[in-house]
Amino acid sequence: MGRIKITDTSLRDGHQSLWATRMTTEDMLPVLHNLDDAGYYSLEVWGGATFDVCIRYLNQDPWERLKIIRQEIKKTKLQMLLRGQSLVGYNHYPDDVVEKFVEKAAEYGIDIFRAFDALNDIRNLETCMKAIKKTGKHAQPCVVYTISPVHSVQHFVDTALRLRDMGADSICIKDMAGLLAPYASYELVQALKANLDVPIQLHTHYIGGLAIATLIKAVEAGVDIIDTASVPMAFGSSQPPVETIVRALQGTEWDTGMALHQLFGIATHFEQLRKHKGFERGVTRISDMKVFEHQVPGGMISNFHAQLEQQKAAHRIDEVLEEIPRVREDMGYPPLVTPTSQIIGIQAVLNVLMGERYKLCPGEVKDYVRGYYGKPPVPVNEEISKKIIGDEQIIQVRPADLLEPGLERARQEIAHWSDREEDALTYALFPQVALKFFEYREGRTHEDISQISARDELGDDLQDEQQPVVKMPPARVIEMQSRGDGEMSIDEIRELILILDQTSIAELELQRDDCKLNLRKSVSARQDKMETGSSSGNFTSQEENTPTVSENTAEVVAPMVGTFYEAPAPDAPPFVKLGDHVVAGQTLCILEAMKLMNEIKAEFDGTIVDILVENAEPVEYGQKLFLIEKD
Ligand code: CO
Repeated sequence: MGRIKITDTSLRDGHQSLWATRMTTEDMLPVLHNLDDAGYYSLEVWGGATFDVCIRYLNQDPWERLKIIRQEIKKTKLQMLLRGQSLVGYNHYPDDVVEKFVEKAAEYGIDIFRAFDALNDIRNLETCMKAIKKTGKHAQPCVVYTISPVHSVQHFVDTALRLRDMGADSICIKDMAGLLAPYASYELVQALKANLDVPIQLHTHYIGGLAIATLIKAVEAGVDIIDTASVPMAFGSSQPPVETIVRALQGTEWDTGMALHQLFGIATHFEQLRKHKGFERGVTRISDMKVFEHQVPGGMISNFHAQLEQQKAAHRIDEVLEEIPRVREDMGYPPLVTPTSQIIGIQAVLNVLMGERYKLCPGEVKDYVRGYYGKPPVPVNEEISKKIIGDEQIIQVRPADLLEPGLERARQEIAHWSDREEDALTYALFPQVALKFFEYREGRTHEDISQISARDELGDDLQDEQQPVVKMPPARVIEMQSRGDGEMSIDEIRELILILDQTSIAELELQRDDCKLNLRKSVSARQDKMETGSSSGNFTSQEENTPTVSENTAEVVAPMVGTFYEAPAPDAPPFVKLGDHVVAGQTLCILEAMKLMNEIKAEFDGTIVDILVENAEPVEYGQKLFLIEKD
């Protein structure tokens, strides 16, 4: 028993949850000394989406931010959120990148590394845990909390015990969706305390309003550290306010010892910033609270609204909400957090829109079933797995075992820009965005870059990756910028819809490229059938030929709004060309929708007599893509 320690999340999760992660380093500076003096156990200031947003939207160097914060925060421990093998990105990175990233972050001043894996597959934490231990810093792996028939208290205790055996200095219960109810929190903390000798920390989100009670019950059960945010950045989808918790525990055996007047001083700074920048307060909407009904996080629900609206199917939201738990069950009950929330969500949307379950499965869903994200809590339903990947083998190894080292390649590819290790890491994580950022940093224009490419000063690989950026026509696709902590915030959705209505669509396209590039790479890497196709560049022939349309000709139409891609990757041959004979089940093209790659397959045998859209062209629901002369 004794004093409860508090971690402040204002500079990471707080603004990530409420302000689309848009706080700049300058916004933070004036309040750093006050935060350092307030008596916090630690300050979560880095990782999660902050890294990505720094280079993508704020044109700030995340490493520079960390350095500045470390200079100002002298007494309090600094903490970051690490997505296990995905670091601060959205896909698994090679081990050498993970090791170097952790080493650099420690060097820049991170004291506590909070690491989680979306599936609680602890193999995905092995490399980063070893790397953290090697730096001598505090390793805090997470037990990701969710509710399902397999997620019993015992399941969480077992996971925590394995994490302790990996060297955990403390364990965090990560309740990213605000699902942990007060009495469940008491039971879980009590069980963890009874089985473990390391400190237990609780991270929850306010969302439906349970969080204050959930924290208090955890305190009663013996939790050691809890997460809160300064009041202007609390409530809603963020953490509960520190002021309330400090007051609630005053005069009890758990008194935090923190002074309210100091905390209000900090809150005043953030409140002024909030008003000045027009950031929103944390509020709870009915749709947020529906998490109690469907266990679907509120941010995710609004995300579906936006997606369904785009597909002209907004009225089908209830069907999708009912389908999500079914898909989650089929997929082995993964917790809904990035990237599993997107994977489960998109499949549920497709199942409803297509009118047949698992008729259309994005590459990510296939990869999930193949085991490329790790092991689900229980195996994927066998019948469904067969429907999605046929007789393909599910990988049994840790997914990152299949990745080639990436650091040296990153170093070479940015040699033109920088020889800093930090920059190589930034590039290894977000190649396209990093290049744009380096370009900005050096004050160079886009034209300069293309001239450099033309002069062949860049490596071949890089040129290949550059080209689609320049050639790609604007696509009308909502960017599902992930909040990393599980779902997209309502504010982000609004913002993105606004962006869509404006003219800077080309810019949006550029911002999406990393994700797309990585997805396309992963699709292409796993497309073994593609090897035999002829080389690309056959578009012109299509204009010269006049399609012969007969009664036997069938149209292949777009089953959704999206972007049409003729090939699995920019430098790969197209799936099909004019005149090709195709068989039922053969992939014709990819439709990228909602940030996922959906393979469109032929439904009958025949010959391609016309291709009606250009590569990378946005297509509408029902738009004709191919004409096929049936056999
Ligand atoms: Co969080």
